[in-house]
Amino acid sequence: MSTFQAPKGTYDLIPPRSATFLAVRDAISTPVKNAGYGYIETPGFENVELFSRGVGESTDIVTKEMYTLTTKGNDYLALRPEGTASVLRAALQANLHKQGNLPVKLWYSGSYYRYERQQAGRYRHFSQVGAEAIGAEDPALDAELIILADQAYRTLGLRNFRILLNSLGDKECRPVYREALQTFLRGLDLDEETLRRAEINPLRVLDDKRADVQKQLVGAPVLTDYLCDACKTYHAEVRELLTAAGVAFEDDVKLVRGLDYYTRTTFEFVHGGLGSQSAVGGGGRYDGLSEMIGGPALPSVGWALGVDRTVLALEAEGIELDVPSATSVFAVPLGEEARRVLFGKITELRKAGVAADFSYGGKGLKGAMKDANRSGARYAVVAGERDLAEGVVQLKDMESGEQEPVALDALVEAVRAKLA
Ligand code: HAM
Repeated sequence: MSTFQAPKGTYDLIPPRSATFLAVRDAISTPVKNAGYGYIETPGFENVELFSRGVGESTDIVTKEMYTLTTKGNDYLALRPEGTASVLRAALQANLHKQGNLPVKLWYSGSYYRYERQQAGRYRHFSQVGAEAIGAEDPALDAELIILADQAYRTLGLRNFRILLNSLGDKECRPVYREALQTFLRGLDLDEETLRRAEINPLRVLDDKRADVQKQLVGAPVLTDYLCDACKTYHAEVRELLTAAGVAFEDDVKLVRGLDYYTRTTFEFVHGGLGSQSAVGGGGRYDGLSEMIGGPALPSVGWALGVDRTVLALEAEGIELDVPSATSVFAVPLGEEARRVLFGKITELRKAGVAADFSYGGKGLKGAMKDANRSGARYAVVAGERDLAEGVVQLKDMESGEQEPVALDALVEAVRAKLA
């Protein structure tokens, strides 16, 4: 292994591709900020217990995929595999739910860690932008979140995605369904591990990707048939609100998410260009999570969109985001005095809000112009001794190739006027 090789299942974000990641985070967070969600940041690690209680003891995430460590002080910690449990924990710790304004709406952006088998679109370190609305049971809130995610993807120009929607019921009707499903599963020819899963978390068996298992699942009881009246009404209203908003979705009675905290509304955004790791985002309602981690009853709903997979989806659709060049003006100093004078001008330009850069390393005209070209700057400011003696610099339009002298003390204004 080379010394410079990033750990397995991870990759570095480097320019120019990294600019797309920033643009994607921006595109996802802009609609949620606009809908009253406030920014929250929580630690990269938490006590393991938060996730084992919150995400669920029987989930792959907790049993197989958590990076855990014991500190020298004997704290048992996990790198966060997801954001919802952390955000809810933080909201409870800060008593946000007691400040009278429910729901508490929060959004976040960060790194998450899962020890998964690496494949295209599935990494051990990945990035999500998420949004959570804590402490209100209202179908309009579920709809709001789905609409906002849809808006984010559409702003990015994505077209080849679908929204899968389901209801997982609540603590009234889910146990009845669970029982019926278990009875059905017990009658099948399943391997031991799957049978064990059927006892602990039967809904997860529906998610089994193996063809021989799927074949046997034909005719399995469907949760939709078991929803209680309250859940049915709730779900119907979410669907109606989405339809009224012009957001197309597909009912997917088999949509079971990989985290245990979901109740009622669950959804996934899947993209057609990503192969087997097709989920670009997902979420749902988690009315019982607060109590599961020791808090009061706080019905909540949220989602997390995967930044890595969203970038892959853009690439699959051949969409290039219009990421503006990082630099507008590039300084090319010829000689010592020009170096000092132009460095001062670059500082002035930056203070005036103009993105500006400088040819470092004492290069000659040819090398420095190459730097200017590579920077993508619209203008180069070139100056040698003779220019300075005349009190001017040469302002070169890198697109047209035209060049004109500009008085040194008028440079900042001239550049700003041209860029405006
Ligand atoms: P999740 O479905 O586990 O949900 O993850 C959400 C998104 O994160 C996925 O759709 C995917 O785009 C991305 N993702 C997950 N694992 C990986 C991976 N190994 N490599 C690359 N991308 C990945 C949650 O995490 C929930 N906390 C969502 C939520 C928020 N539910 C309610 N509120």
